[in-house]
Amino acid sequence: MAFLKRNKKVSEEPRILPKHIGIIMDGNGRWAKKRKLPRSAGHNAGGKVFRTITRYCSDIGIKYLTVYAFSTENWKRPKEEVDALMKLFKDYLEEALTDFKEDSIVVRFIGDKTPFSDDLKALMIENEEGSKDRNGMVLNIAMNYGSRDEIVRAVKNISERVKNGEYDIDSIDEDLISDNLYTAGQPDPDLIIRPSGEYRISNFLLWQSAYTEFVIMNKLWPDFKKEDLDEAINIFNKRNRRFGGV
Ligand code: FPP
Repeated sequence: MAFLKRNKKVSEEPRILPKHIGIIMDGNGRWAKKRKLPRSAGHNAGGKVFRTITRYCSDIGIKYLTVYAFSTENWKRPKEEVDALMKLFKDYLEEALTDFKEDSIVVRFIGDKTPFSDDLKALMIENEEGSKDRNGMVLNIAMNYGSRDEIVRAVKNISERVKNGEYDIDSIDEDLISDNLYTAGQPDPDLIIRPSGEYRISNFLLWQSAYTEFVIMNKLWPDFKKEDLDEAINIFNKRNRRFGGV
């Protein structure tokens, strides 16, 4: 039975907890539009939900959580929206330095940090360095992340090492590719949740999600509640995972 660390009972039913959950935090823009607010207001509301759901995942004993915060394609959005998102990331990452300490959350960033401003890059590194020795849930924040880009990088890295004679071509296998991704050393996601009703993977964890269960929920991310996470886990529990077997 799963219990909250803070002694709150989560569910009466015995259930299998996914070890690794991925979340595509989608629907912030539509949430704002419905309220005739600027898109940035949707991102602000989504940011609050990010914090609540991250803590909840840690409370119920999830070991790895990967959230999709900004894709390699999101730079195409209007400058005003990108600037508002960067400001939001800065605020949350400043807060995260102390905020996630209590729950011993290990903060990691997956994606290419290069295009971010110096102060945002410094905050990302400070969060990673300051949390690396903690023993709680690993939180991967995907920022400037694209799964195709991640695979291209892995291929280049492996090719370079083959060229240097470090590896033989025949020694290239699935494990070696996994070891060259941002998520090296972590289990593949068991469950990926996409709120907002869209049936798309949007360049998120393509290699890692080969046998992941997908749960699409008809709720916009800023409306997403702890109960919705519980519901997704319950749906996951009803799935018959066969990993290609029978
Ligand atoms: C997608 O919704 C959401 C984003 C591109 C931004 C997500 C970022 C947050 C929730 C802030 C979290 C903060 C940190 C530090 C991780 P959309 O804008 O594509 O929504 P739409 O499809 O309705 O337009």
